[in-house]
Amino acid sequence: MTSPTLTTTHPYQDPALSIPERVADLLGRMTLEEKIGQMLQLDARDDLDDHILRRQAGSILHTSPERILRANELTAHTRLRIPLLVAEDCIHGHSFWPGATIYPTQLGMAASWDAGLLERVARATAEEVAATGIHWTFSPVLCISRDLRWGRVGETFGEDPFLIGELASAMVRGYQGDGLDDPTAILATAKHFAGYSETQGGRDASEADISRRKLRSWFLPPFERVAREGCRSFMLGYQTMDGVPITTNEWLLSEVLRGEWGYTGTLITDWDNVGRMVWEQRVQPDYPHASAAAVTAGNDMIMNTPGFFEGALDAVAQGLLGEDAFDVAAGRILTLKFELGLFEDPRLPVEGLEQIVGSADHTALNLDAARRSLVLLENDGVLPLDPAAVRRVAVVGPLADDAQSQLGDWAGGSGQAGWLDGQPREMISTVLDGLRAIAPWEVTHSRGAEILTLAPDPAGSTFPDGQPRPPVVKPAAPDHALLAEAVAAASDSDVVVAVVGDRIELVGEGRSTATLELVGGQIALLDAVIATGKPVIVVLLASKPLVLPASVQRAAAVIWAANPGMQGGRALAEIITGRVEPSGRLPISFARHVGQQPTYYNQIRGQHGDRYADLTQAPAWVFGEGRSYTTVEYGDLSLESTTLGRGDTIVGHVTVTNTGERPVRETVQVYVRDAVTSVSWTDKELKAYRQVDVAPGESVRVRLEVPVADCSIVDAAGIRLVEPGGFELLIGPSSRDDQLLAAGFEVG
Ligand code: NOJ
Repeated sequence: MTSPTLTTTHPYQDPALSIPERVADLLGRMTLEEKIGQMLQLDARDDLDDHILRRQAGSILHTSPERILRANELTAHTRLRIPLLVAEDCIHGHSFWPGATIYPTQLGMAASWDAGLLERVARATAEEVAATGIHWTFSPVLCISRDLRWGRVGETFGEDPFLIGELASAMVRGYQGDGLDDPTAILATAKHFAGYSETQGGRDASEADISRRKLRSWFLPPFERVAREGCRSFMLGYQTMDGVPITTNEWLLSEVLRGEWGYTGTLITDWDNVGRMVWEQRVQPDYPHASAAAVTAGNDMIMNTPGFFEGALDAVAQGLLGEDAFDVAAGRILTLKFELGLFEDPRLPVEGLEQIVGSADHTALNLDAARRSLVLLENDGVLPLDPAAVRRVAVVGPLADDAQSQLGDWAGGSGQAGWLDGQPREMISTVLDGLRAIAPWEVTHSRGAEILTLAPDPAGSTFPDGQPRPPVVKPAAPDHALLAEAVAAASDSDVVVAVVGDRIELVGEGRSTATLELVGGQIALLDAVIATGKPVIVVLLASKPLVLPASVQRAAAVIWAANPGMQGGRALAEIITGRVEPSGRLPISFARHVGQQPTYYNQIRGQHGDRYADLTQAPAWVFGEGRSYTTVEYGDLSLESTTLGRGDTIVGHVTVTNTGERPVRETVQVYVRDAVTSVSWTDKELKAYRQVDVAPGESVRVRLEVPVADCSIVDAAGIRLVEPGGFELLIGPSSRDDQLLAAGFEVG
């Protein structure tokens, strides 16, 4: 297809004019259809010609490498030649680009507690994404994970609003680089605004019962931070709250986001939110009404509701919307396009992108991210393994050599894109690869168990809108032949590395789990290899915290690896052999039993007792926990001042001593406890942390600061404020009370 030649040049095509002038000129030339089309983001896997030539879509998502070029050819045939915004879920690397660098999942990287590292990962991702002709990523996720049954826990930064804010802010900076005129910058998206994760029973997109006060207390602060810092787009969740679909929640979208926070960026719905109000939530009678409601509530871009085009036109014809109702939204989308310079350069895939995508530098960064994301939960002293003392290692488990599962959701093989089955095998180091490569020991491998098979959903293969329904998981029964082989290998080894966890069929959107236990033959496998009496190192390759069987209490060590990305196996082998020190800390608590949900550390004070009749409420491992290969002591906590005003900063000092024989990167955590609050509040909240490297035998004095303004609560009227009175600064290696030193201070 050859592009028609431009005969006239209009002011909007003149880069010498200001962006507001160009937007005004272009809007003035656009028809109603063209403005409505600008608000549409459609699925590039469908009929691209129809999307672009008839519906005049302003944006596409899920674009295979070939279709980016085709889409650009098509826009050259539109009347005004408005370039497309091309979007993709590049959420831990350039997820669906063949050969891209896939990092640990967001939850995995959150275990590093290292904002600088996450900023570097986002920057490197932006370089790969921008080089391939994509302008917009739907990352990061700022949802708070509280019910571990939810399928999307692994996409989040965990359970703490402060840590989420720190890490999200870093990723937004990394993606957006030096500003949108930087050719390696991509648009970041804070999602899912807001409260989507507060599911009922862990069920995806269920009604979230969150009061406005509770939203302001914990769910909104990370979003407020990135809104004020200039994150250029926000994506809505799927849920309703107090009966109102998030898509039409004017309080949240207009009063809070655009009003109080002064947000001027773009607001995009989630997938078919507008259609879902009609066919799923049934709160709108038809597409004209749903489209009118979404526009009136201030949405700028409508993701994958093709019927919005006709619906919005009908809404105007029926008088539900005025003809000018689309100007603000279309103007915002056009502004982004001008800011990105797309009218001058549509930012198509660049020459030499092979040198950028999956580069050696990005692989090195990925290895670092994987090392930092691993959390050593238990160690009876077996780790680090001494390669000289170990002759044979039995690697068992169905995930020991499952390269694509190791990458987790939103990665080559996770199924959302459809144009690739997975990332190249040779780019991925599995645990088996890593252990084989690293030391002169003999490594045997036996699968030991199957996890699951799939069966069609009895409710049918598609949802009412035609989207595929995920198949139903059938746990695999223990396989006695596989088990016997693994037990024999374990018995014949010096040490066993058992790699268990979850698979993509148990993870993600619409794939919440009713239980948290290891699925299929994995429990029988762990029980059997632990019963051999050999030291067993359990490597949990699980997207989210799972419940481990009782036999694991007799394991020699437990490491949680989340989905550790392409370099995960190598990083694990390095940690297991002590070439690298473990430094990850949990960004989320692990339950002992699914019935303990929720187990997050910052719960509200005031319940009767702290246990069930038949079980403690204490999590198996709690937020902030993680071991190293040395011992660390905290002492001499002192405050520079114990009487402070609201504008002051609390400055504490604590001595951290490495009392063992190996170096440590210690994450010194600072929590604040407000003694008495006018409304019920959590007993302690993370307010700061610092990471320090301490050599064996050395002590460092660590200075920690918390602005008094951060020691706030949200009162009964929904106002965030610092209430005068007594507080405690709590400092230690995790959120566990018995590990925290406390110092009191007064706010006058
Ligand atoms: C739905 C998911 O909820 C959202 O996170 C994602 O960005 C969009 N689909 C686009 O794939």
